[in-house]
Amino acid sequence: MEKIKVKICQGTTCFVMGGSVIKAIMDTLTEKYADKIEIIPVRCLEVCHENDSFSKAPYVYVDDELVSDASIEKVTSLIESKLQK
Ligand code: FES
Repeated sequence: MEKIKVKICQGTTCFVMGGSVIKAIMDTLTEKYADKIEIIPVRCLEVCHENDSFSKAPYVYVDDELVSDASIEKVTSLIESKLQK
């Protein structure tokens, strides 16, 4: 089975809006889904440049689906729904 790619933004906007959340997401996902996902830290997902998107950071991509205002719960829920397909 191909691993789910989780791109986690490490850019300034996302860090300012949720640096501790980003770190917690990375730690939690790495521990919980080590053999099912690939964590890819990205400098900037280029979403923060769009209108009014600053307030919805931090951002994470789970495969091709964008998660705004990312939290452990949101990202985990999306990963689990993809694993059940
Ligand atoms: S800093 Fe996260 S999308 Fe740009």
